[in-house]
Amino acid sequence: MAIILKSQKELQKMRRAGRLVAECHALVRGVLKPGITTLELDSLVAEHIKRQGGTSPFLGYAPPGMTPYPASICTSVNEVVVHGIPGPRVLQEGDIVSVDIGVTLDGYVGDSAWSYPVGRVAPHASALLEVAEQCLWAALKEARANQRLGDLGAAIQGHAKRHGYGVLREFGSHGVGRRMHEDPHIPNYGTAGTGLRLRPGMTMAIEPMVTEGDYRVAELDDGWTIVTIDGKLSAHFEHTIAITPDGAPEILTQRVE
Ligand code: MF3
Ligand code: CO
Repeated sequence: MAIILKSQKELQKMRRAGRLVAECHALVRGVLKPGITTLELDSLVAEHIKRQGGTSPFLGYAPPGMTPYPASICTSVNEVVVHGIPGPRVLQEGDIVSVDIGVTLDGYVGDSAWSYPVGRVAPHASALLEVAEQCLWAALKEARANQRLGDLGAAIQGHAKRHGYGVLREFGSHGVGRRMHEDPHIPNYGTAGTGLRLRPGMTMAIEPMVTEGDYRVAELDDGWTIVTIDGKLSAHFEHTIAITPDGAPEILTQRVE
């Protein structure tokens, strides 16, 4: 495992990449309503990234043995947990959609996902959104120098479990920097007080994926789309952060309006 600590100069670049990701989310929130297609969201984000001189690290992303990812963002609706491919699907009132956005700018990556309600959603759907977002904040509270990786996973899993929700096993959080996925891999479940110690200069994308029911998932034939096996809802929240010398992490993909 090779964890790459970032210098101040590198952090400055990651701030800019993260800021562009946050701008893209603001654009998405501005147009997200019943009737829009997920492909329209993809085009909107792709154009903004391009205009600002960036690229999407998702587009063409191809881990060994996988078909290249065909879009700039992921749009994961309802029972789709992650890696939903934008297309002609029209978002309906009552849907929930995770919009996952990555940007490479000046050689550094920002990565952030947020799950949004489309119009008015059922109480059980908004409850899931609320708790899944809280899972992210619970993990970020643990993301301080000298804490351990297991503290993050335990915080996510503990909070989800208290509300009767599941946490994915197959996918987790990750280091991020020059590449979208750097060491370490960070499970979204685990045991507090175990695992690697966090150090200032570590940059990570923390992304709990929370299911309303069973945490088991399946991959669709397109080779990307991950769905819950029981067909129940799922939500996903992600920020790119930097571990600071003392206290709270710096959120590099901090929300902007
Ligand atoms: N936030 C996701 C991740 O970290 C984005 C990857 S989507 C992909 O895995 F399509 F590029 F795989
Ligand atoms: Co990520």
